[in-house]
Amino acid sequence: MNIQDRKRVFSGIQPTSVMHIGNYFGAVQNWVKLQDQYECIYSVVDLHAMTIPYQPEQLFHNTREMLIDLLACGVDPQRSIVFIQSMVPEHMELAWVFNCVTSYGELTRMTQFKDKTDQLRAGDKDALISAGLFNYPILQAADILVYKAEFVPVGKDQEQHLELSRNIAERFNFQYGEYFVPPQPLFTDLPKLLSLADPTKKMSKSLGPKHFIALFEEEDVVRKKVMSAVTDSGQPAEGMSPGVANLIEILKACGKLEAMAFFTEQYHQGGLRYKDLKESVADALVELISGFRVKRTEIVSNRDYIQRLEIEMADKARAIASQVMREVRERSGMHNYGRING
Ligand code: AMP
Ligand code: TRP
Repeated sequence: MNIQDRKRVFSGIQPTSVMHIGNYFGAVQNWVKLQDQYECIYSVVDLHAMTIPYQPEQLFHNTREMLIDLLACGVDPQRSIVFIQSMVPEHMELAWVFNCVTSYGELTRMTQFKDKTDQLRAGDKDALISAGLFNYPILQAADILVYKAEFVPVGKDQEQHLELSRNIAERFNFQYGEYFVPPQPLFTDLPKLLSLADPTKKMSKSLGPKHFIALFEEEDVVRKKVMSAVTDSGQPAEGMSPGVANLIEILKACGKLEAMAFFTEQYHQGGLRYKDLKESVADALVELISGFRVKRTEIVSNRDYIQRLEIEMADKARAIASQVMREVRERSGMHNYGRING
């Protein structure tokens, strides 16, 4: 397919955590695949990570690390744009325009704001609940629409934000004339991995190191974490326990379909040995992760390349975003720098 016939995709990932296998199988692996069919624009959304309390040096560092992680996983700067959000100020500009077409009422209905507020208050009852956290879905709409992207691969947890992006596009069009096409979510059936130490919860960095496997973890750590994975807690009255199902899901995600079929069969026959299953999962993960580690080491060894790439990618993103912003400025009655006639 010619690049100019491809539909445009945009997605973002926050640099709040090291990438773990949950992020990889639940999002990034799909981003890599989408590059074959779409014109992809992917961003490390550091501006979003500023909505909750953070340390500036840490954010700066994590943002670059996340970009490197994406490259090591196979996001390809030859075919896609992969950039750091804060290097493209047009996101913030468009977000302001969108702030002025979004109603306070619809923002108050965002369930993620309520969840994050509860989480922050649970950690510290005096935590700052910022206006940025409240406005976050508007910035997300700007991320997508500043590139006029048509499709957005996201998990179900982002469905409500996507719906808001569509409403914002329509509201803008209503006020300033047809311009944006409301973006569509691209839902794919992706695995949701559970915590290894507490398989009643989603794998997440915030639960602590025992609970997740980082994508670039050392081999012996991977093996240790898998071998001590909880298999039998919260055993349901019937069916597989979530811990065992999660291990089998990891095998499947690693493409080990034969092993998956074998252990599933053993389970049904009542002869499944957890130790064998765990060894097989650990082998599959070590194989996957060692490939990523090699690529990552190669990228990291060339700091100049990373810095050049950051600039080159931001320039490419800005070339699109600044054109859209010029048109938005004209439509919404703002003054464009350098334009003299009314
Ligand atoms: P987060 O770091 O939670 O903002 O997630 C970044 C991306 O990874 C989102 O697309 C999530 O849906 C996905 N993700 C996070 N945790 C998991 C998990 N345990 N299993 C599958 N996907 C996940
Ligand atoms: N809010 C998304 C998340 O937490 C990240 C994100 C920011 C995003 N901007 C986006 C995703 C635009 C898709 C499109 O996962």
